[in-house]
Amino acid sequence: MTQHLAALNLPSAETEAAAPAAVAGAARRSGWWRDAVIYQVYPRSFADANGDGMGDLAGIRSRLPYLRDLGVDAVWLSPFYSSPQADAGYDVADYRVVDPMFGDLADAEGLIADAHGLGLRIIVDIVPNHVSDQHPWFRQALREGPGSPLRGRFHFRPGQGADGELPPNDWESIFGGPAWTRTENPDGTPGEWYLHLFAPQQPDLNWDSPAVADEFRSLLRFWLDLGADGFRIDVAHGLVKAAGLPDIGMHDQLRLLGNDVLPFFDQDGVHEIYRDWRRILDEYGTDPQTRRIAVAEAWTPTVERTALYLRPDELHQAFNFQYLGTEWAAGPLREVIDVSLDSMRPVGAPATWVLSNHDVVRHLTRFGKGDREQDLHRARAATLLMLALPGSAYLYQGEELGLPEVTDLPDEVRQDPAFTRARGTAAEGQEGMRDGCRVPLPWSGATAPYGFGPAADGPSWLPQPAEWAKLSVEAQTGDASSTLELYRRALAVRRAHPALGAGDAVEWLDAPEGVIAFRRTAVGDSLVCTVNTTGAPVTLPVPGVPLLSSTGEAPAADGAQAVLLADSTVWWSC
Ligand code: GLC
Repeated sequence: MTQHLAALNLPSAETEAAAPAAVAGAARRSGWWRDAVIYQVYPRSFADANGDGMGDLAGIRSRLPYLRDLGVDAVWLSPFYSSPQADAGYDVADYRVVDPMFGDLADAEGLIADAHGLGLRIIVDIVPNHVSDQHPWFRQALREGPGSPLRGRFHFRPGQGADGELPPNDWESIFGGPAWTRTENPDGTPGEWYLHLFAPQQPDLNWDSPAVADEFRSLLRFWLDLGADGFRIDVAHGLVKAAGLPDIGMHDQLRLLGNDVLPFFDQDGVHEIYRDWRRILDEYGTDPQTRRIAVAEAWTPTVERTALYLRPDELHQAFNFQYLGTEWAAGPLREVIDVSLDSMRPVGAPATWVLSNHDVVRHLTRFGKGDREQDLHRARAATLLMLALPGSAYLYQGEELGLPEVTDLPDEVRQDPAFTRARGTAAEGQEGMRDGCRVPLPWSGATAPYGFGPAADGPSWLPQPAEWAKLSVEAQTGDASSTLELYRRALAVRRAHPALGAGDAVEWLDAPEGVIAFRRTAVGDSLVCTVNTTGAPVTLPVPGVPLLSSTGEAPAADGAQAVLLADSTVWWSC
């Protein structure tokens, strides 16, 4: 940030750590999650303390001060439970055990305690749609054979065809191929089929079974008792399947990010489950500053359907995938912002905003055109737009470093099951594959693994590009023009400025073609955000004093007119 930008009296990181609530505005007092910036840690790829090339809890723990100084409010950890890793930990064999590759339960407890000491909250991932095929329930159900009540915890069905050789229906797996796998009976003969919306190693649970509901009640309490501040609910929209498991009648049904109406997604029955879970969360207190929360990963056809998960007796937040899926263009962005805010208002839940996560192409590359410098401008502009919107925002590890998607990973290092399952099918190729956003973070040094692990020439489970030396935390720290310093500054301004954070509306301002301009107002204070989504500079009337710019430089002004550079966002104090 340069001296051209207006100074704002920002609290230091130390002050905030000591008294996180003290820096909060009135909105924050109504619930910490309403304006929280939540940072997603992907444990495999964040920091590796034991040098085996795989990130771990001790690594995350050692880097918590970095997250505190970055200025986020909470950390969401993708799964670190006992798992054969058929889907990078989203195939859980034991939800009460930390996988040895990540550490142990004492590490998890220590991590939560340290985070709380730094004023950070911890959200853990819960995976209720399916378990690992190594989960004791599934092993036992297979052993006991057809007719066993233990099979009732899953979706086992006889096959169709003369010898049951065809799947029970036409559902397809999100990772490719049929959503059914045939089992072998204990006597070795071909047996029933079981449903798996994802990989065959991830059998779907049957939520009509009381044992399933009971087990998850107990699991929620287990992690809440350990101090978790909330849950990110994996595939929250998938738990209930339409009665009779009806055929869909077409191919290519599924895309992970799809919005289609399907008999296994977004069924009305899921809401009863979340009302039940909400009662459990509320048992742990309803003080807005310490409340335990849940955020739904719910792919639904519309934002209005997403809002149903957020009724006052259900969950607290849901990812806004409609926003994530919107192209970098003023019209569509304005529209999705309006629709998002409008649909959350009736249920009183905060809107959320997200640009990247572990399942999608990093936004720098997704919005970009292949010119690294120009793409970075756009990514930084997108981030400042997101952080100016009312509600809560999700960051994905590494976006604060301006990391691009890695698009040239060799086939043999890839671990995304979708990649393997797509081989030899029409879906084969790099598109939609998820290893490229999961490459371990660069922390320091000139050569890989760039401080990801303790040894200078140690391993990393996916190779890091040579250009990442200049993107490391160390390389960017203290460089006012770096993306990391932009994020730090933006989060500090967002936390301190009364007009930013929670809210349920923006005031749109007139703007030239391709430009988004809106005002956010708090008592006695307002902030204008202007976003040029076009590839050329745009002139507009100066709306105030420039406070923060995605380019790092205050816009050039000529009297009452200011020039917004191509693909840039400016926050103005008024
Ligand atoms: C969610 C996760 C994704 C995982 C899938 C199956 O979409 O974000 O990574 O593969 O669920 O659990």
